[in-house]
Amino acid sequence: MNELDTLVDTARADFAQANAPADLENAKARFLGKAGRITELMKGMAQLSVDEKKSRGAAINVAKQAIEAALNARRQALADAELDVQLRAEALDVTLPGRHRVGGGLHPVSRTMERIEAIFSSMGFDVADGPEIESDWHSFTSLNNPPNHPARSMQDTFYVDIDGEDGIPYNLRPHTSPMQVRYAHQQIKKHAAVFEAAETDPNVKPPEIRVIAPGRTYRVDSDATHSPMFHQCEGLWLGENVSFKDLKVVFTDFCRTFFETDDLVLRFRPSFFPFTEPSAEIDIQFQSGPLAGRWLEVAGSGQVHPNVVRNMGLDPERYIGFAFGMGPDRLTMLRYGVNDLRLFFDGDLRFLSQFQ
Ligand code: PHE
Repeated sequence: MNELDTLVDTARADFAQANAPADLENAKARFLGKAGRITELMKGMAQLSVDEKKSRGAAINVAKQAIEAALNARRQALADAELDVQLRAEALDVTLPGRHRVGGGLHPVSRTMERIEAIFSSMGFDVADGPEIESDWHSFTSLNNPPNHPARSMQDTFYVDIDGEDGIPYNLRPHTSPMQVRYAHQQIKKHAAVFEAAETDPNVKPPEIRVIAPGRTYRVDSDATHSPMFHQCEGLWLGENVSFKDLKVVFTDFCRTFFETDDLVLRFRPSFFPFTEPSAEIDIQFQSGPLAGRWLEVAGSGQVHPNVVRNMGLDPERYIGFAFGMGPDRLTMLRYGVNDLRLFFDGDLRFLSQFQ
C-alpha cells in the first residue's frame, strides 16, 4: 500500500473515532488544514519536475478528495445521530392506550334512597335529615323507652365517649325514630303561631305532620343480612284523623311503586315497639318472579304511642297517626337480587359498577 492510500485510511479511521463535531473538525485540520498532511505533501512537490508534479499532484488530489468525502460522510453521520437522539427524546408513542376517565355513579343504596324520597314526596311527605350522633333522650327515652327498660336491647348500639346534657353518653342512633320527635319539635317551632292557635281554638285545624327521614343507623350486628352501619327510613304521619288504614294504603302504594309491580301483597304482623301501640311488622310477598311466595320483612310500624306524641309537645287527644321504619338496604337487596348485605359496604368496584 502506498503512502497516500495509508494517509486516506488513517484519515478515515480518525474521522470514525471522532464522536462529536468538534473532534471531527480537529481531525479535519490534521489532514486538510493549513498545516495539515495534504498541504505538507503539496509543499513537498516544489522540487519535482513538471511531469512528476503532474502525476504526483493528481495522486495527491485523489487522496484529498477521498479524505474530503470521508469527512463529509462522517459529518452527515454525526448530524444524523444527533437528530436521532433528539427525535427519540421527543418521541410520542401513539400506540399507548388512552387514559380514559371512568364515570362515577350513584351507590345502589343511594339510588334506593332517591327512589324512596321521590315516591313519598309525591304523596306529600316532607324529607328530613338529622344527626347520626344522638342523645339518649332522642334515641330512647322520648320514644317511650326509659333507661333500663329491657326493650332497649332491641336496639343495641354504639356509645360515644361524651356525655349528653342528661349525663348519659351520646349514642350512634340505632334507628331513625329519633327523627319523629326532632321533626315534630322543628315544625312546632317553625309554625308556632298556627300550632298555638290550634291548641286554643278548636275551630283551627291542627297542621299535620307528614315526613320521612332517611339516613344512616348503627347497631352491634354483623352477618349476611346485618351490617353495623346500615340505613333506615323513618315515616311519620300525624293528624286529627290519621289511622292504621292510612298506613296500609300509603305503604302498599309505596311498595308497589318502588318494586314497579302490583303483583305484590302486604301482611301486617302483630309486633312490639315501645313507641307504637298497636305495632306491626310489615311483610311483603311477591306473587310472581324469582322471590314469589316468600314473606319478606321490610319495615316495623304502628300507631304512634300517646307518650311519644306528648314528648313531641302535642296533645295525644288531638293528634293521632302512624309511624314506620323501613330498611332501604333490604329493599335494595330485593330489588337487585343481592343476597349479602355486606357487599354494599365493602367498596368493591367490581360489585358496585354492575349497578351503573
Ligand atoms: N325503629 C324501629 C326499628 O328500628 C322501626 C319502627 C319505626 C317501628 C317506627 C315502628 C315505628 O326497629
